[in-house]
Amino acid sequence: DLYQPTRENSEGVILDSLQQRAQQLEKIEPFMHHQWQAAPLINGESVKSQSAEITVSPFDLARQTGQLCNATEEDVREAYAVTRAGFISWNNHPVSERAKIIQRFATLLEEHREELIALCMREAGKTLRDAINEIREAVDFCYYYAHEATNRLISQPMPSVTGEENILSYEGRGIFLCISPWNFPLAIWTGQVVAALLAGNSVISKPAASTPLIAYRATQLLLDAGIPKDAIALLPGRSQEIGPQLTSDFRLSGVAFTGSTRSATDIVRQLTLRDGASIVPFIAETGGQNAMIVDSTALPEQVVKDVIESAFNSAGQRCSALRVLYLQEETAEQIEAMLKGAIHTLKVGNPCEIDTDIGPIINNNAMQGLHGHIEHCREHRRLMFEADLKEQHDTGYFVAPTLVRLHTIEELSDEHFGPILHIIHYQADNLDRIIEEINRTGYGLTLGVHSRNNQTIEHICNHARVGNIYINRNQIGAIVSSQPFGGMGLSGTGPKAGGPNYLMSFAQEKTCSTNT
Ligand code: SER
Repeated sequence: DLYQPTRENSEGVILDSLQQRAQQLEKIEPFMHHQWQAAPLINGESVKSQSAEITVSPFDLARQTGQLCNATEEDVREAYAVTRAGFISWNNHPVSERAKIIQRFATLLEEHREELIALCMREAGKTLRDAINEIREAVDFCYYYAHEATNRLISQPMPSVTGEENILSYEGRGIFLCISPWNFPLAIWTGQVVAALLAGNSVISKPAASTPLIAYRATQLLLDAGIPKDAIALLPGRSQEIGPQLTSDFRLSGVAFTGSTRSATDIVRQLTLRDGASIVPFIAETGGQNAMIVDSTALPEQVVKDVIESAFNSAGQRCSALRVLYLQEETAEQIEAMLKGAIHTLKVGNPCEIDTDIGPIINNNAMQGLHGHIEHCREHRRLMFEADLKEQHDTGYFVAPTLVRLHTIEELSDEHFGPILHIIHYQADNLDRIIEEINRTGYGLTLGVHSRNNQTIEHICNHARVGNIYINRNQIGAIVSSQPFGGMGLSGTGPKAGGPNYLMSFAQEKTCSTNT
């Protein structure tokens, strides 16, 4: 019973013409001035405090998107008490019923598609195309994991050698803490929460501090779909404020985390310090120092198209994004010249404008960090090319696509999460050295390869220690159920999102042997 992924909205398919974009923008127009809200949602109740903050768009700081009340210590305590009780009954719901509720949630996401697209654009600064793909991916996660749950979370007889009856079954672990990122504020939020719920867990969701409105709206839709109100709690807030309390509670039974490698190691440290509490699974998807290797047999036009997509789509704010491009000496200059030409045509700006290609950076801190890196490269005479932002962008957080020359990937100590592409030239007989260099970073998320030489491709695939390899295409936008996504080493603990083993890692196995 194979799952069939949907492709109707996948990368780039539906927005080929400006006319198509205009039609989409018209549909979401009613939500472009809407005000949303976010607050702790516990036992189905929104916990409003006196101290609501105003939230704004990263591309227009004067434009209010909504109001936010962050969770307090008291809210965290309450969320644990409620979801602990909620776990017991939710875990006893038949899997088929849980799956039906999640399918209903997917239908609600589709019914509220226009609102959610507008929300992703305004709160997270997504371009129209990225926002459409975001909703599609969230829906795909629901249908795929629901399908997997009904097919795989079923009791099965095991062989008997002694005449006893042996049954292996699956159940929830308890309370799963889902910590989701701002760069896929609906899709990754949905993937984590839905997998945890389908496996029988109750959930405490801590969404990224930059995108609480989307998580709040999604939680409301989950409750509307029929998730019992004590099976999920939403706690918006900053990690520095509620993080340690969330990860130190003895009732915690598992953590799903997507975010930076540094935050992941902090969480692991906090989990190991819990007095007398059980050892819990930690499912992490973190950063990457993602490379692409382009040899001299590659097709330059295809390379340029795929590099632009991989490095600058979503303003480079994808964990899969290309950071370091290795060009073989023979064709390097030609490809660099074509890249500069292509970057000139990209428009950075307000994602609500019809011809925008690259939207904003998520917040001021992130933008300052990227500008700091660009200045550092300029001082060290490494800056190759910085695009012109064309208009004066003082209304929001923008960074121009930038090319930087490096001699080795080891010059990068951090992941630079934005539209900055580092370029290294290599000679054909150094291929093994650069594969080794990429492996030595300790990260292992995505790797792109452009070559028409099958031996080279096979050699790289066999030796690169990464989770996802993309050959003669871009290296972003993994499709749920077709391209299971996730890294190794500093890039994550596995298992892969959108893959057949993800759901199982949220479940507890139980064996019952009966003397018949
Ligand atoms: N899944 C995303 C991609 O493939 C990254 O999180 O681009």
